[in-house]
Amino acid sequence: MADVRIQVLENAPLLVTGAVSLVDHQGNPIPTPKDGVIALCRCGASKTRPFCDGNHKIIGFDGSLCLQP
Ligand code: FES
Repeated sequence: MADVRIQVLENAPLLVTGAVSLVDHQGNPIPTPKDGVIALCRCGASKTRPFCDGNHKIIGFDGSLCLQP
């Protein structure tokens, strides 16, 4: 099995590396970049969700509030 890594970037997206299958709420495949690196939006402001489009910078996303246990 290939290793998959999900990194929570500071005030930014979730960076997913490795071979994963991304599907929508109905189980339909969502095309992903061929390089195996996916940035998933966690701020809610992306216009290309589920992918990050950089809008977290514009809205001043504070990711520290998402790391509370
Ligand atoms: S995390 Fe980058 S646009 Fe939402």
